[in-house]
Amino acid sequence: MLDWSDSTSSATPSAAAIFNTPPGAEQTGLGTIDRSGGRVSVDEKRMINCRADVNQLLPLKYKWAWEKYLAGCNNHWMPTEVSMQADIALWKSRDGLTEDERRAIKRNLGFFAASESLVANNIVLAIYRHLTNPECRQYLLRQAFEEAVHTHTFQYVVESLGLDEGELFNMYREVPSITDKAAWALKHTQNLDNPDFTTGTLESDQAFLRDLVAFYVVFEGMWFYTGFAQILSLGRRNKMVGIAEQYQYILRDESIHLNFGIDVINQIKLENPHLWTKEFQEDVRGMLKEAAELEAAYGRDTMPRGFLGLNAALCEQYMHFIANRRCAQIGLAPVFAETDNPFPWMSEVMDLKKEKNFFETRVIEYQNGGALSWD
Ligand SMILES: [Fe+2]
Ligand SMILES: [Fe+2]
Repeated sequence: MLDWSDSTSSATPSAAAIFNTPPGAEQTGLGTIDRSGGRVSVDEKRMINCRADVNQLLPLKYKWAWEKYLAGCNNHWMPTEVSMQADIALWKSRDGLTEDERRAIKRNLGFFAASESLVANNIVLAIYRHLTNPECRQYLLRQAFEEAVHTHTFQYVVESLGLDEGELFNMYREVPSITDKAAWALKHTQNLDNPDFTTGTLESDQAFLRDLVAFYVVFEGMWFYTGFAQILSLGRRNKMVGIAEQYQYILRDESIHLNFGIDVINQIKLENPHLWTKEFQEDVRGMLKEAAELEAAYGRDTMPRGFLGLNAALCEQYMHFIANRRCAQIGLAPVFAETDNPFPWMSEVMDLKKEKNFFETRVIEYQNGGALSWD
């Protein structure tokens, strides 16, 4: 049986809104329909362990989730709309790229190619089931599609450049510095993947929060950012401009994914303050520190000598800067000594509206309204 005692302090579900089904089924929304059930009021909605009907989107409680869903829809793009001609010419030319640049590009693509699938699988198979709010689920459905578009990007790049697909899509298994990152994140989703896992206890609710931190804050919010910096640095120097343009669109999507994850974590904290113990906060800070160290090892592996103003030491500094920022966003003390952002140009690249001609490729104005808040 689920233990509801920790999680229903402010909401008192109407008897009518509770499904007459086995434990856990009322959270998925796939239980038996209660024909005499009442309508859900805003007060009954909760992020986790909600006992009110999760199939009723309206009335909205978490407007930030709905706004992110709309922003995601406004940002729609497809990788095949970006021309790869210049990239193909450069990749096939004998001396257009150095061996170091080729190594970094391939490892970067290899890291992202599998990571997009890991993130998508975590959303669909772990997060969605336990996030018991329909407006958040609406956003997750949009995010899941965007992750499919991102995976499509790597298929399109492999096809366009004639890369070895087996080499690229297996890097997460075969290149130790990439495997270490994937294995670290998977550890946190494996708990939730267990069919017997349900939220509702201190331990399981904290496990769910750890998974949100591992995927939203670390994977999408830290590791992706050094990957973006590598490719966008090439793009700034007019190299691999098609991939760089695609990465700009991915970065725009990921920025909303990250901000959604941060809002979810902070809302769960607000509704369940007993989960956010001192010990748990230290636990999460340790996760961010460990993640930054894994990224530093990956940086040394992908850029043993450095290129185009990038090197492993600068990427490590960038990771410290980002890790501290993520700590602040979820209300934690910084994990590293204060440091400057070594890539201030990254914030300019993030402003697609202002910098739409950044790489002087075809201009695609996807954004058709709505304010975006970049991170
Ligand atoms: Fe993605
Ligand atoms: Fe994402």
